[in-house]
Amino acid sequence: MRFTVRDYRSDDFDTLWAIDQSCFDPDISYSKDELRLYLRRPGAFTLVAESTDEVSDPNGLAILAFVIAESSRRGMGHIITIDVRAQARRHHIGSALLDAAEERLRAAKCHAVRLETAVDNTSALSFYKRHGYDVIKIIPHYYSNGLDALLLEKSLLLVPASS
Ligand SMILES: CC(C)(COP(=O)(O)OP(=O)(O)OC[C@H]1O[C@@H](n2cnc3c(N)ncnc32)[C@H](O)[C@@H]1OP(=O)(O)O)[C@@H](O)C(=O)NCCC(=O)NCCS
Repeated sequence: MRFTVRDYRSDDFDTLWAIDQSCFDPDISYSKDELRLYLRRPGAFTLVAESTDEVSDPNGLAILAFVIAESSRRGMGHIITIDVRAQARRHHIGSALLDAAEERLRAAKCHAVRLETAVDNTSALSFYKRHGYDVIKIIPHYYSNGLDALLLEKSLLLVPASS
């Protein structure tokens, strides 16, 4: 599966929202207002992975995945979400987006990056472990449905290993 990574454009919004809806249960996925807020947060940026396969795309599936991340003035990066369409998973698209987001955060002088993921999201936990993230703590009742989250962290000071 061939793809390229580019910055978000405002006309991507509905597709990103649909991808997020398809990636998470209704009680965890973002409302349109929440997604808009995250996209516009100070220090936030969004990267999109777009298919470059030369097949026609009548269903508007050109956008395969996206990541929203942000940097704080204290030098801490934060992955807000990373969403890959189910049909596009295990093609290292999530990895390419995460690598690109970490690179942006390094350029913004972040020394580390954190994220939250649901305790039962085994795919995401395997993915982040593969990318060198460590569990810092449990955040009880993080999600609106009462589910706990794990807070993960990775240092950005080390030279990135090729994945
Ligand atoms: C988690 C997620 C982002 C991974 O994206 P992806 O593009 O499929 O991941 P990659 O292909 O880059 O995987 C890289 C490595 O992570 C690990 N990994 C990824 N998905 C995995 C899974 N389902 N089970 C076990 N390991 C997994 C593997 O080591 C994999 O390498 P390999 O395929 O060579 O074995 C994707 O499954 C997803 O969007 N899930 C739904 C949304 C979500 O949970 N987001 C994260 C929480 S914010």
